[in-house]
Amino acid sequence: MKQFTSVADAGNVSELISEALTVKINGQENADLGKGKTLALLFLNPSLRTRMSTQKAAYNLGMNVIVVNLDKDSWQIEFEEGAVMNSTKSEHIKEAAGVVSQYCDIIGVRCFPGLVDRNKDYNEEILNSFLKYCNKPLISLESGTRHPLQSFADMITIAETKKKEEPKVVLAWAPHVKALPQAVPNSFAEWAVASGAEVVITHPEGYELDEQFSKGATIEYNQNKALADADYVYVKNWSSFTNYGEMPEVKENWLLTMEKLKLTNAAKVMHCLPVRRNVELPDEILDSASSLVQHQAGNRVIAAQTILKKILESNS
Ligand code: CP
Repeated sequence: MKQFTSVADAGNVSELISEALTVKINGQENADLGKGKTLALLFLNPSLRTRMSTQKAAYNLGMNVIVVNLDKDSWQIEFEEGAVMNSTKSEHIKEAAGVVSQYCDIIGVRCFPGLVDRNKDYNEEILNSFLKYCNKPLISLESGTRHPLQSFADMITIAETKKKEEPKVVLAWAPHVKALPQAVPNSFAEWAVASGAEVVITHPEGYELDEQFSKGATIEYNQNKALADADYVYVKNWSSFTNYGEMPEVKENWLLTMEKLKLTNAAKVMHCLPVRRNVELPDEILDSASSLVQHQAGNRVIAAQTILKKILESNS
């Protein structure tokens, strides 16, 4: 594996999930694989899970880790080609990427979308700058359009808990107080379809995802109909793709409840975290046996360790 930025880099998703389940059982088996190698984790945005799980995964493989909060601890980076750098940004990605590539063997980058310029976000201008100027394998820690390590962890979680070969998986929009990216739902949809699940996406009108991510899934605007016989409900808020970054008004109550869960096939409820309690999901679900959110977070280590292992094996 040369890079990990989307499901397209995963190869056969079922085989990758099987490999992850083996990593989970034999977690310490490759404790020296990354000996003498260094992982850089570069964050342009906040993180709890991605930072800690990827760091722990690297330690499990014997790697050294350097974490840099590029948004706070370092020079502000200019990404524009030909920029006249006479303002606040002191370092160009061309120099920064060259420097990091000398110090590190694998580079992870988190770069959220700005939610202002859809072309800029969906062309992945920041991630692609790192890909262009870093000469080491690159892992996305969440970018403008995708969060592949999260989605991989989610697929591992479903594989471990499913009771039928092709479960019905419902990606359900939830309310929120601020506009959030589409990266997690985009990514979850494409991974869930690739894993062979029956995927239904339910959201209010105006919150359609870009079709390149929702293809293969059924769109159902009626939440109750979507929930019928679901085996998993993946709850997530996202802002509008069409009216980019906006939050069109929603009149109905889209908050999932225990009452609504009765429509499902005793569905397990998933969320990538962080979750705003009683805004996106109620206490009654998060504190119940229906919730898989801690299981998913635990599998973030397994997802990262599997990807780091594959990259180390390809580049040894
Ligand atoms: N789910 C997830 O990526 O969490 P963090 O933003 O805390 O890394």
